[in-house]
Amino acid sequence: MIRVSVVGAAGYSGAEAVRLLARHPHVELAGLFGSPGGKGVLFRELHPDLAGLDGPDVIPFAEGALVSGRPDAAILATPNEVSAELAPRLLEAGVRVIDVSGAFRLRDAALYPAWYGFAHPAPELLGEAVYGLTEWCGEELAGARLVANPGCYPTSVLLALKPLVAILAADQPLFVSSASGVSGAGKKAELAYSFCELSGSYKAYAVGNHRHEPEMRQELGLAAEAAFTFVPHLLPVVRGILSTIHVSFEGTVSDAAVAERFAAAYSGRPFVKVLSAGRLPELRDVVGTPRAHVGWKLLPGGRRAVVVSAIDNLLKGAASQAVQNLNRVFGLPETEGF
Ligand SMILES: NC(=O)c1ccc[n+]([C@@H]2O[C@H](COP(=O)([O-])OP(=O)(O)OC[C@H]3O[C@@H](n4cnc5c(N)ncnc54)[C@H](OP(=O)(O)O)[C@@H]3O)[C@@H](O)[C@H]2O)c1
Repeated sequence: MIRVSVVGAAGYSGAEAVRLLARHPHVELAGLFGSPGGKGVLFRELHPDLAGLDGPDVIPFAEGALVSGRPDAAILATPNEVSAELAPRLLEAGVRVIDVSGAFRLRDAALYPAWYGFAHPAPELLGEAVYGLTEWCGEELAGARLVANPGCYPTSVLLALKPLVAILAADQPLFVSSASGVSGAGKKAELAYSFCELSGSYKAYAVGNHRHEPEMRQELGLAAEAAFTFVPHLLPVVRGILSTIHVSFEGTVSDAAVAERFAAAYSGRPFVKVLSAGRLPELRDVVGTPRAHVGWKLLPGGRRAVVVSAIDNLLKGAASQAVQNLNRVFGLPETEGF
């Protein structure tokens, strides 16, 4: 059994990780932690739906308590600054870390002050962290000490775009419009995220300054000045991200050529479903599942297309991808426990 602790276990993505791990046949929950000043949560109250399954209660975080639980790995579903400080200490204690925050996703430490608002406390780990977009990882995941789980928007965008990068027109701009359910902001209680402010509305936000933008540029191999426009939107639903991506190709392409690229990337990968040409994904088909759905529509002339992807931000965008990565780190098939 792999002993796994979760920090941020009562947060939106942490609680989803706990739900998956509690049913995982090769995992034993070693400890569940909330914020140091928090009240803690009984396991049965965290997941009343897991009747019959037992697990540790969520207790206020204390490093000694986590380490004395002798976990093989910890999933950190904590704010960026918390993960950045905590991960190095856990690694030193011999605990592998899968970090759901953005603390180890960017390889260039110089980007952290501008995009995350803090100087990185452990820049030496940025080169070691494996960027865990699972379907695009190879052997580097096996035995990794530190996995940077991708952001929710980047997961949806990269899964759709990476298979096509080689045939995109280098001199044409890329436009990405993504809409996320409100759980993407975590469980914070702020007026801007309250029902009355959001219900019945729809808006773009953080245009040009969303911290997932440098992450996508990094993983697509785009320079900081490349014409890549990312427009996130807040959608008044609880869960799900739908990304709509406008692309231009180097030459004329056919549906068969696009289908071939997606098949080469994802055949045999059960958590990415590629729809048939012209069919576009919908949130309702992925919410509550660990799967991404990807589809495309070629535009007249065959030089341009709209590519659409849909995920559950708390699952493929966070917790289920973390469990896929955990499986691969410990040499299990990535589907184990689902
Ligand atoms: N929400 C998403 O769709 C999503 C997707 C991908 C990645 N992420 C990333 O995942 C992380 C968690 O996001 P979330 O949306 O799940 O947030 P959340 O719902 O606000 O939960 C955050 C959790 O972190 C805990 N925490 C806060 N400070 C702590 C500390 N100093 N020590 C230990 N635990 C601490 C909180 O404890 P209490 O319960 O005691 O308050 C809470 O359980 C963030 O970095 C976020 O950017 C989120």
